Formats: sequence, C-alpha cells, structure tokens
Amino acid sequence: MAEEVALYRKYRPQTPDEVIGQEHVVRALVGAIREGRLSHAFLFCGPRGTGKTSTARILARMVNCERGPTAEPCGVCEQCVRIRDGSHLDVVEIDAASHGGVDDARELRERAPTAPAMGREKVYIIDEAQRLSREAFDALLKIFEEPPRGVRFVLATTEPHKMPPTIVGRCQRFDFRRVSTDVLSDHLEWVAKQEGLVLAGKVMVMVMKLTQIYFSIVWIMDRGLWIMRHRKKGSGLLRRVEDTLVPPGSRFAA
Ligand SMILES: Nc1ncnc2c1ncn2[C@@H]1O[C@H](COP(=O)(O)OP(=O)(O)OP(=O)(O)O)[C@@H](O)[C@H]1O
Ligand SMILES: [Mg+2]
Ligand SMILES: [Zn+2]
Repeated sequence: MAEEVALYRKYRPQTPDEVIGQEHVVRALVGAIREGRLSHAFLFCGPRGTGKTSTARILARMVNCERGPTAEPCGVCEQCVRIRDGSHLDVVEIDAASHGGVDDARELRERAPTAPAMGREKVYIIDEAQRLSREAFDALLKIFEEPPRGVRFVLATTEPHKMPPTIVGRCQRFDFRRVSTDVLSDHLEWVAKQEGLVLAGKVMVMVMKLTQIYFSIVWIMDRGLWIMRHRKKGSGLLRRVEDTLVPPGSRFAA
C-alpha cells in the first residue's frame, strides 16, 4: 500500500490551479487574497476527498509564501516547502475526532493568539470540525469574536449540518463539489502521463465505474493509479481489483 499512498500524496494539488473541479472556491480565494480581504475563518464543506485539506494548505501557502501574500505561492521557498512536508510550525492540522476535548479547547484558546513562530501567519486547519466538543466550539467563538491578528482558521467538514449555526455564521463557507467524470478522466490521464503510463480503455471504464459508486477523488486516484501500475501483471487483474473494493474513508485518514 505504501506505493499508493506515496502516489496520492505526490499528486496532492500544491497550487490553486492544480485543484480540480472547485473553480468557484479557488476563484474566490484568489480574488480575496489579491484584494487583501481574506476572511479569518473559513468553513470548507463537502464529500471526502474533494480537496478540502489540500485547499486549506494552499491557502496557508498563499499567506505565508516568502513572495507573498500571493495568489501564486512559489512552491520553493522555505515556507512553501515546510507547508508541503507538514513541518511548518504555524500551520497546525487538528483532527477534531481525536483532539476536540476540553484540554485541546483550552490549548487552542491559549495558543491561537500567540505570534507565529516562523511564518507570517498561523493557519489552523481543523478536520472533521463537526466533531469538536462544545468547549472547543465555545473557545472558537471567543476567538472569532475578536480575531487575533495573523491567525486564520479553516474548519473542514463532511457534515456541515452538524456544525453549530453560531460557528457557521462567523465563517466564510465554501462547498466543495463532487467532480464530474469528464474532469476526473482528464485528470487521471494527466496523472498517467506524468507516470509514463498510457490509460487503456479498459482501465478507464473501470475507473469510471468506480467513480459512479464512490466519487471520492482520492479513492478513485488510488484505485486508478493502482490499476495503471499493475495492469501489465496479468489479465486476471481487473477481477482482483474489483475484489479489493472497499468504501472510501476506511483506508485513508487524509
Ligand atoms: N479537487 C482536487 N483536485 C486534485 N486532486 C484532488 C482534489 N481533491 C482531492 N484530490 C486528491 O485527493 C487527495 C486527498 O485530498 P484532500 O485531503 O484535500 O481531501 P479532503 O476533502 O480533505 O478529504 P477528507 O474529507 O477525507 O479529509 C489529494 O492528495 C489529491 O491527490
Ligand atoms: Mg481532509
Ligand atoms: Zn513560497
């Protein structure tokens, strides 16, 4: 499995124009950063694997890139590189499912207003935000009331209806969409090309079939790439691939 994870990480979008199928989100973020009116709190809603976390990291690069704030993060400065490899001290990813408790809420309240350690701004990316505790939501509300300078929040959720309206009301909301099969197949073809592979018609049919069932980009990419990688190994392969089908979310916590 390691190879597949490496591949899907490898193709994590790093710049706004690499995010596929979410033009409405990208356009708004790019416009806001160009005009210097970026919100301090965002709510990224949408199905699994549609680009919420990737886009949040891109936002972190936009505000922290050494050549920024910029709509076109350079990708090569220390800030951009550290955000990419997850070692940037000011870009904090919190999984609300495991870190949403009372202590975490207190820590958030105490630490959010402190100055950035290495970048221009701190960016908190909170995954599965609907699972934050009441204490954590209260802490966030307090912070949102008087947002400290240089701190931004991206709350990502697959279940926006479970978010408290008070929080939703204070965030700029973006809805990430499932990507059409046309756009997906173009993307897969591009990925295949990067990997020096040609997508056989049979593979594409398989991937599209999976798309109709699961629709999570990360999952489709994972399966698609796996099929591309291994297709030379024997004709019984597609059968084996079908046997390995599992619902999205059970394999990757990304
Ligand atoms: N819009 C997109 N454009 C290009 N690649 C994407 C997009 N969405 C997802 N991917 C691929 O899927 C992987 C996971 O995406 P990401 O973690 O951003 O999704 P997510 O919406 O945060 O999912 P989850 O709800 O599971 O946290 C990325 O590394 C990338 O390879
Ligand atoms: Mg995510
Ligand atoms: Zn940069």
